[in-house]
Amino acid sequence: MESPIAHVVILPFPAQGHIKPMLILAELLTQLAAFKITFLNNEHNHRRIDKSAASRRRINFISIPDGLPPDHPRTGSSVIDLFFTISTASGPYLKNLIASMSQPPTCIICDGIMSFAIDLAAELGIPAITFRTYSATCTWTYFHLQKLIQNGEIPVLEGNEDMDKQISCIPGLENIMRRRDLPHICRLEPENKVLQFYITQTSKMTKASALILNTFEELESPIISHLKSIFPTIYTIGPLHTALKHNTIDTTNGPYNSFSLIKTDKSGLEWLDSQKPNSVLYVSFGSVISLSREQLMEFWYGLVNSGKLFLWAIRPDLVWDENESGQAPEELKMGTRERGRIVGWVAQEEVLAHNAVGGFLTHSGWNSTLESISFGKPMICWPRIADQQVNSMCVSEMWKVGFDMKEICDRSTVEKLVRDLMEGRAEEIVKSTDEIARLAQGSVRDGGSSNRNIKKLIQDIKLLHS
Ligand code: UDX
Repeated sequence: MESPIAHVVILPFPAQGHIKPMLILAELLTQLAAFKITFLNNEHNHRRIDKSAASRRRINFISIPDGLPPDHPRTGSSVIDLFFTISTASGPYLKNLIASMSQPPTCIICDGIMSFAIDLAAELGIPAITFRTYSATCTWTYFHLQKLIQNGEIPVLEGNEDMDKQISCIPGLENIMRRRDLPHICRLEPENKVLQFYITQTSKMTKASALILNTFEELESPIISHLKSIFPTIYTIGPLHTALKHNTIDTTNGPYNSFSLIKTDKSGLEWLDSQKPNSVLYVSFGSVISLSREQLMEFWYGLVNSGKLFLWAIRPDLVWDENESGQAPEELKMGTRERGRIVGWVAQEEVLAHNAVGGFLTHSGWNSTLESISFGKPMICWPRIADQQVNSMCVSEMWKVGFDMKEICDRSTVEKLVRDLMEGRAEEIVKSTDEIARLAQGSVRDGGSSNRNIKKLIQDIKLLHS
């Protein structure tokens, strides 16, 4: 007899910023609908994911091959190598795996850059839903890459031309987006294989039956409307980490479950406990980008010279140097003690939720941006790659919840922006930060837009199963 419970297969791209929102979605689907979930990871991340939390006991974690040699680091910017190996390596494996499942999947939810799974699902007669882990604004921009090439906007040549020239060929963003705000891949030559990878993946997403986005209606409503011309069904269900907190019944791991692939350093939290409200700037650059030693020092001097307190999370492979790769120098940690703390990879949501934290110096990854928004912390953005330029444009120009440092990285800019953000807490920014945080929280509460959408997603999956 067929099981009365729907079975959803979830396939993230194997990187921290993609796995976290998709794993939160998996938890929500088990908690709210008791669906059976199969969550797929490459072996590297399969080993790292915390499978012990009670909320994850109902999720079946399975590893799939990714086509890279065992000794490949698969961290930082080297994750890009996976673009060119994973579909060939895991496609046939996935096909056999699905064929051997005792309960065939009701649907597959796959990452927007794992579009080979949409073809595979069609071949097997299984509905596929695509989950783009970027913002709606960035997703919409990616749908215009081909047009940007035709219009001669690609490649954007850094420093060589007017970076503030408006981009006019993306409906809804005509008066706001400048060359400098285009996704970082727009700085590549049109024939570059990374750029071509994104063009192909984005176009293949349209074969899915629906689109899931980790955003909320109130934040990006005009652009979500534009996207509806491509995807009639869009589920905006974010901020997912806030939705999970709102719905979580299982609190075994405290209010914030662990979604980190890296071991967390809790030492900064005690120090935060002894600081005044809104007095500390939290600094982190996510899981992918790296800093040269020179950039590290510019940030450090800028932070120290600002006279403000800071907590800086430096992951083990953040600092890149021609001769060495690794941690922040020990003397930097010692030299920081009067002004703050340098720690390892932290439980970021716990840090952002802390009332001592009054701002966030970030690389503008989409998860960090949404987390900062929902905890009501204004940002200083230092975008580097991928969607980060688009996110920092939204933060500074659309939502007015922070400043954009653009490409600049010198101590005096850092010092000035930190002072501007933390001193007197820039009035306009604090006001819009509070307002947007309120909307973010409201969207996941009962009856809120994201709450209705996740219920609709559950309902639609149940219909597929019936
Ligand atoms: C990557 C890209 O860089 C980013 O632009 C894209 O939007 C998603 O994929 P990443 O660099 O990891 O992501 O940044 P981000 O999206 O911000 O995700 C980082 C996640 O790691 C956040 O959820 C954050 O809470 C978590 N984190 C970060 C920690 O738990 N501890 C830390 O010390 C730093």
